[in-house]
Amino acid sequence: MINWQIITLGKVGSTNDEIKKYCTEKGKYVVLRAIKQTSGRGRRGRSWCSMEGNLFFSLALEMPLSKLGMLVVIASLSLHQVIKNLNSQAEVKLKWPNDVLLDGAKVSGMLLEKGQLDYIIVGIGVNIAKHPDNAEMLYPTTSLQEAGIHITAEEFMAQYLQKFEQNMELLQAGKDDILRNQWLKCAKGVGEKIAVRQEEGEQSGIFRGIDENAHLLLEKENEICHIRVGDVFYIEKEI
Ligand code: BTN
Repeated sequence: MINWQIITLGKVGSTNDEIKKYCTEKGKYVVLRAIKQTSGRGRRGRSWCSMEGNLFFSLALEMPLSKLGMLVVIASLSLHQVIKNLNSQAEVKLKWPNDVLLDGAKVSGMLLEKGQLDYIIVGIGVNIAKHPDNAEMLYPTTSLQEAGIHITAEEFMAQYLQKFEQNMELLQAGKDDILRNQWLKCAKGVGEKIAVRQEEGEQSGIFRGIDENAHLLLEKENEICHIRVGDVFYIEKEI
């Protein structure tokens, strides 16, 4: 069983920054949640709109960087499992690399960063009660509450830590393939045309899944490209 050191703070800039203060010695599993977050950070230099009543937390654990991709897999799969457990009828999908979509809109995002020593920080935001105005966002967003799921941030995090631990046990037992397949079953758009936006520009192709490092496999002109970073957009099929 993971012996988490759980810290709850009233107000922080970013839980991803705050948790680093607790990772000064080896061998710890730390979870840090903030009731309010004033400078939440998102992927690719974006900010994370941290609205009152929502969940902002970070995990810190030691893991070799070679396992980073699998950590993305278990961290996002665990979110999917918790939300699906709360409402089995809801349409819950994973969007590469680590977003969760609820009824087609983003309900959760994740930011992984390198901490001190061998720590990796996994920062997770879940829109429990509120979501930002969609007109200002890159993607449409939603909240659990909007989808009729009523749970507190605290209870959600407790359920998440349980799922995370189960998936971590599978990872430690070398069940990477099983975990990746589970992730793929929950992913949106496998086998379909997508566009991937990167700093260098945008490319489109067929989403063929993920590799052992959880990099996206994009088929273009019968060639498979492995993509490490980017934002995925689904291309609506014409009828
Ligand atoms: C994204 O989708 O762009 C990632 C969003 C990650 C947000 C969470 S909230 C808790 C943690 N602290 C941060 O500053 N960011 C992450």
